[in-house]
Amino acid sequence: MNEQKPLLTTRRQFLQTTGRLTAAGALAGVTLPHVHAAGNETTQIALIGCGGRGSGAAANALETKGGSVMITAMADVFENKLKGSHSGLKEKYRDLVDVPEDKRYIGFDGYKKAMDTLKPGDIAILATPPAFRWVHFKYAIERGLNVFMEKPICVDAPTGRRMIALAEEAKKKNLKVGVGLMVRHCRGRRALYDKLREGAIGEIIAMRAYRMHPPVASAFTDPSMRKEGMSEVLFQISRFHSFLWASGGLFSDFYIHQIDECCWMKDSWPVKCQAVGGRHYRGKNIDQNFDVYQVEYTFEDGTKFFFYGRTMTGVRDDFTSILHGAKGMATVSLGGHSLGTAGRIFKGQNLKSEDQVWAAFPKRDAPDPYQMEWQDLLDAIRGDVAYNEVERGARASMVTAMGRFAAHTGQEVTWEEYSTNNSEFAPDVDKLTLDGPAPIQADAEGKYPVPMPGRNKTKEY
Ligand SMILES: NC(=O)c1ccc[n+]([C@@H]2O[C@H](COP(=O)([O-])OP(=O)(O)OC[C@H]3O[C@@H](n4cnc5c(N)ncnc54)[C@H](O)[C@@H]3O)[C@@H](O)[C@H]2O)c1
Repeated sequence: MNEQKPLLTTRRQFLQTTGRLTAAGALAGVTLPHVHAAGNETTQIALIGCGGRGSGAAANALETKGGSVMITAMADVFENKLKGSHSGLKEKYRDLVDVPEDKRYIGFDGYKKAMDTLKPGDIAILATPPAFRWVHFKYAIERGLNVFMEKPICVDAPTGRRMIALAEEAKKKNLKVGVGLMVRHCRGRRALYDKLREGAIGEIIAMRAYRMHPPVASAFTDPSMRKEGMSEVLFQISRFHSFLWASGGLFSDFYIHQIDECCWMKDSWPVKCQAVGGRHYRGKNIDQNFDVYQVEYTFEDGTKFFFYGRTMTGVRDDFTSILHGAKGMATVSLGGHSLGTAGRIFKGQNLKSEDQVWAAFPKRDAPDPYQMEWQDLLDAIRGDVAYNEVERGARASMVTAMGRFAAHTGQEVTWEEYSTNNSEFAPDVDKLTLDGPAPIQADAEGKYPVPMPGRNKTKEY
């Protein structure tokens, strides 16, 4: 199992176990193990993007074991989001949240100001829409900060390649970087991965995953959602799942987890894909998403992975990832991201409880993967264990975007073609201003361009 080693030597433990050295001079010339670059036992955290997940990630950080952490700075482009996040965190975590007014920053440059309050070795949480990930990651590296960033970490191929290049810079500085693909930290799924390597279901010959539910988050947008006085760019950011430049659309945002977990279980990445998709009862909606998608990914050995996504009401809901092997089948997800009934192996090819032969956590008492990803990151920071999930996160984000690209263009797409694609949705995302032009414009009827498979073959709109 690919667990991080439990560690840890804190600076204090080190001093205690090296003979309770008291005079600083006694340490002259001794190389201390790296623990916290600032030599301060409390790791300070700046939260950039104070929405639902950013606030959740901050809470997960504060719940970790093995050392002291505090939230000390926050940044967002909306004051109400920052305020709401701050009061929620403060109410629950009290002294662990110490963000005075002058460390709360609003605006596109807020991330810089928040990071500037930290010392090298502290942590920046990057939980804005993914369009801003490379901009914020670049500055975090300049500042010598460890990073936790949410998925997806890019929205298209050029930003994916940029993230991979930045990951190398982070490694040179020995920074630790976690990516919010938390199912990779799920103990049950890790146990399933090990069972698969032992041949528990034989060779994997097909995989299928379903994410089907009514519209959630900001996936669908109608004009009435535009708030009085809000600038165009802030409107698009406030509805970021509706705009491909901001999020990669609902496809990238919602589907990445299951695409990534299936590739992980297969221990490989697909070499090509083809896909279908379309818009049904969209009424006045002006967003850029399709509401149905189906992608067929192909791996080097010919194995197929079928992904089904649907964002619609009144139809069957499902949230499942299933692997079919020569000798049986396994569930990776069943009912959601948390382990629940996932991480199970069955004889035969039917999902029948009487055919279940193994379960990672039969009593469904698995630890929360969102908590585990933070524990693993902080263990690595405190123990100075190399830790950089960016390349894998970028690959997962790009493989997901490749499926979306295939659906939106109606073409078969190889990894070779997609990964070298130069089409970037918002090349100037680092130069946005609150009142300046937005990366995409509506037409005279207030509608934004939507993908037209077959008509646009090389660009998504
Ligand atoms: N791992 C998971 O299961 C999971 C779950 C939910 C969301 N996410 C990811 O977390 C990210 C945020 O999603 P969310 O659901 O929290 O959305 P959200 O809208 O609740 O939060 C995003 C926040 O970022 C702020 N923001 C936008 N642009 C900014 C900028 N340039 N600078 C500073 N702040 C900015 C917004 O105002 C908002 O408060 C997305 O990438 C999403 O995919 C991951």
